[in-house]
Amino acid sequence: MRIFICGFGTVGQGFAEVIAQRREFLEERYGCPVLITGAMDSRTYVIDRDGLDPIALVDRKKVTGRVGEDEYSDSVDVLEQAAYDILVEVSPTDVKTGGAGLRNITHALESGKDVITVNKGPLALKFHDLITLAKRNRCKFRFEGSVGGAMPIINLCRENLRGERIESIRGIFNGTCNFILSKMDKGQPFDQALKEAQQMGYAETDPTNDIEGYDSACKVAILANSVFGRNVTFDDVRITGITGITDEAIALAASRNMVIRLIGEVSETKLEVGPRLVPRGHPLSISGTLNTAQIISDLAGPITVSGRGAGRIETASAILSDLISIMDERTE
Ligand code: HSE
Repeated sequence: MRIFICGFGTVGQGFAEVIAQRREFLEERYGCPVLITGAMDSRTYVIDRDGLDPIALVDRKKVTGRVGEDEYSDSVDVLEQAAYDILVEVSPTDVKTGGAGLRNITHALESGKDVITVNKGPLALKFHDLITLAKRNRCKFRFEGSVGGAMPIINLCRENLRGERIESIRGIFNGTCNFILSKMDKGQPFDQALKEAQQMGYAETDPTNDIEGYDSACKVAILANSVFGRNVTFDDVRITGITGITDEAIALAASRNMVIRLIGEVSETKLEVGPRLVPRGHPLSISGTLNTAQIISDLAGPITVSGRGAGRIETASAILSDLISIMDERTE
């Protein structure tokens, strides 16, 4: 099995490390070598049909800031040259156009390759085009880590809960906002809390995407499409971020034994992200950087999940689970 990693930031490097950790397990399970035959960051690339050492790739990126020695001008040209079976697309999210990620995924699916991504832009903007393309070309296309990082949600709803009629999902889908709001609960100013979240590596490249609610809105759109079978994009989500939340509002909520949390809500008819009052002790009142979601379905009733919504190894764990599903299907 040959893997190409597109995007070699936090998640790409984490995935390379996870492959190194799980290589023996994968090779024993499938009886074939599992190779990384190419990797690309925003400027450089490296390709080797015989397989690259994942840890050497991570080390080179750490020392030189580049994953490869050669520079490229068009990522699709690099993919054309590479020999791979599965594209792992983890380049930075672009919620306006889908960015290079959309081109890379489209190219891979058009070439008959399976794709795993956590890149929210392409999924929040062109979900139906991509699913249709994948089906037409009989490609597997999975994206568990795009919502909630390590927190199981998409495959949980689509696979484990496949007999259920899911009525709604409400959740905290952005760790940066939750961290800021939790700190504000304790009296810390907004700007200082945001700075801390950025230092922890949680915030998006442009933190506006977090605090204005755009990152949560992408996730809500992805859930609407993948779990509810709707045909929506990021632009259909009613979004309010957390920049307008004052210390007074937080104090007023506290005086009523409530907290303010940025909640994403999705159902057959709802598609919203906004600050909500949540009673203390409610599953959606959690503090810190965790993500959490409450799924309401007709037979099972409420199911609550929570987990780390970001992080190099945590997000890579979701990619690994998609990789195993694809490899299981390929060897059936
Ligand atoms: N910026 C996101 C968050 C990370 O703060 O939760 C992954 O989407």
